[in-house]
Amino acid sequence: MNQPVMEGLRLNVPASVKHARLISWVAEIAALTEARDVHWCDGSTEEYDRLCAQLVAAGTFKKLNPALRPNSYLACSDPSDVARVEDRTFICSARQEDAGPTNNWKAPAEMRELLQTGSKALFRGAMRGRTLYVVPFSMGPLGSPIAHIGVELSDSPYVAVNMRTMTRMGRAVLDVLGSDGEFVPCVHTVGAPLQAGQADVKWPCNATKYIVHYPETREIWSYGSGYGGNALLGKKCFALRIASTMGRDQGWLAEHMLILGVQSPEGKKSHIAAAFPSACGKTNFSMLVPPAGFEGWKVTTIGDDIAWIKPHADGKLYAINPEAGYFGVAPGTNLQTNPNCMRSLDKNVIFTNVALTDDGDVWWEGMEKDTGTLPAHLIDWQGKDWTPEIAKQTGAKAAHPNARFTVAATNNPALDPEWDNPAGVPIDAFIFGGRRSTTVPLVTEARDWTEGVYMAATMGSETTAAAAGQQGVVRRDPFAMLPFMGYNMSDYFRHWLDMGAQLQASGAKLPKIFCVNWFRKGPDDKFVWPGYGDNMRVLKWMLDRVEGRGEGEENVFGVTPRYEDINWEGLGFTPEQFQQVTHVDKAAWTAELDLHAQLFNQLAHHLPAELPATKARIEERLAAL
Ligand code: GTP
Ligand code: SPV
Ligand code: MN
Repeated sequence: MNQPVMEGLRLNVPASVKHARLISWVAEIAALTEARDVHWCDGSTEEYDRLCAQLVAAGTFKKLNPALRPNSYLACSDPSDVARVEDRTFICSARQEDAGPTNNWKAPAEMRELLQTGSKALFRGAMRGRTLYVVPFSMGPLGSPIAHIGVELSDSPYVAVNMRTMTRMGRAVLDVLGSDGEFVPCVHTVGAPLQAGQADVKWPCNATKYIVHYPETREIWSYGSGYGGNALLGKKCFALRIASTMGRDQGWLAEHMLILGVQSPEGKKSHIAAAFPSACGKTNFSMLVPPAGFEGWKVTTIGDDIAWIKPHADGKLYAINPEAGYFGVAPGTNLQTNPNCMRSLDKNVIFTNVALTDDGDVWWEGMEKDTGTLPAHLIDWQGKDWTPEIAKQTGAKAAHPNARFTVAATNNPALDPEWDNPAGVPIDAFIFGGRRSTTVPLVTEARDWTEGVYMAATMGSETTAAAAGQQGVVRRDPFAMLPFMGYNMSDYFRHWLDMGAQLQASGAKLPKIFCVNWFRKGPDDKFVWPGYGDNMRVLKWMLDRVEGRGEGEENVFGVTPRYEDINWEGLGFTPEQFQQVTHVDKAAWTAELDLHAQLFNQLAHHLPAELPATKARIEERLAAL
């Protein structure tokens, strides 16, 4: 076919690309954004190296000392562009009630006018002076019947290189697309056009931001941010917000869940999917190293952030990780909390917003636990001098609390051999867990699917640095999906209840559902539960329960272990401490149930009747306490 030639711009379509609709869409976006030129990413190592070198030349990347951190880079973002922006994230469904009360909404036509069609539309001329990168990517193993393809058009080379690590990206995806394959169109601009002769900045972005989803047409439009889930559109935008609506329509689930494999000393393998809100321990749990007392146990990672889960003909739920890499939180990560993660970061990493050491390596808060000392001097994530004295005086953090690494899953020494299996792995249990310094006990097992859905739906968590805004505030975060739901939250609860009923009707054994909290604090404001590897002790109790072996006792909300039901070998954790992380305070739970009531009030439209009914039963038991 003839390559469309635009004024001053060739589309540079590779000869192998035969997808007319893709080509004309690229032409349309290039024209709208007035991109200077177009680069079709092939996903090769040469291309990655070339783009990284270009980012170094532009000052966006610093190449780290190859003797200490081979083939790795540090990017420091604009201080205004460090996290997802939930108040700028929109679900533009045709009807507002389909976005629901937990999402920002604008009518599609109105949003399109603002972004694309109006005379002052934000995307008009937004890529002037910049290259438009065509980034074809597959979420899930290439060509798998469970996978879906997206194409991101972005004017950020930082996005292009990160997408290569986070997804299966490049020429092979275009080959799978063929001449008429389906793809989710994703348009991204940093929103910083360059006039002729204007010098670029290290981290272009715009104070105005829009992260927009059109669920009916399955499109994503992102404006103004170069960071994380705002810009790497395969992750939260596609694999959660758009995919959740695909799942609703097609009978599957897209969840903010890690997936792990756990093998007993006898060789029995189980698979667990766990939903914790952002920066609440998914990456850590997915790479868990069993502590003393658990010799012969092995935990392996299938995914650390997102799960796509589908019912199979055998009546079980099978999960795949749609991603190919980890965009994980750096601060707090060290050889004691997460040795597998530290080893994953030895080489081939892009770090964002961590600190730079004087010998050209990286540093973040928490690494002092490995070395026993703080570094004498660093350049912090904002390019300023950092010393322990400055930190003491000003409280300045060397690394931004939401500093992250981008690394391929294949770097993980604990990677599960099945992580890339297009069929996925069968799920034996679901875990939901928020960050709660009070009220919520260490672990509770739901007595049935509905009670589990209730626990997940009413989950609260303290906000973290993963999103812009106030931190440490308890909010309801149903299923850890509040920022990632592509449709009405109550319809999503219904979808979970229906999936359970459907599996049960087929005679299958439903996965058990548990609720955990690693984050209860004592009067000294310190975490009482040791967490990290010691979470294995709780995981083992859950596995026993799944197999019908473990003991526990009925409680107001479900089933909880007694002190003697948990293996404490190798850990001096007293019954008093256990009491601190497990006790159920009647007054605190009365207040908590009021918050559940408020949530149900907010979600009243379409709220499944099973949920208030479950609440009423809990209230009866609480009253009898
Ligand atoms: P996202 O990538 O934002 O979705 O985060 P995540 O859920 O993968 O969280 P991650 O595992 O990266 O942990 C975030 C922070 O919580 C890090 O600073 C960890 O050190 C800390 N953390 C993780 N697990 C535990 C735990 O068991 N106990 C305590 N106290 N902290 C934990
Ligand atoms: C999260 O916030 O849950 C993340 C990081 O996993 S981001 O990709 O920025 O959404
Ligand atoms: Mn996440």
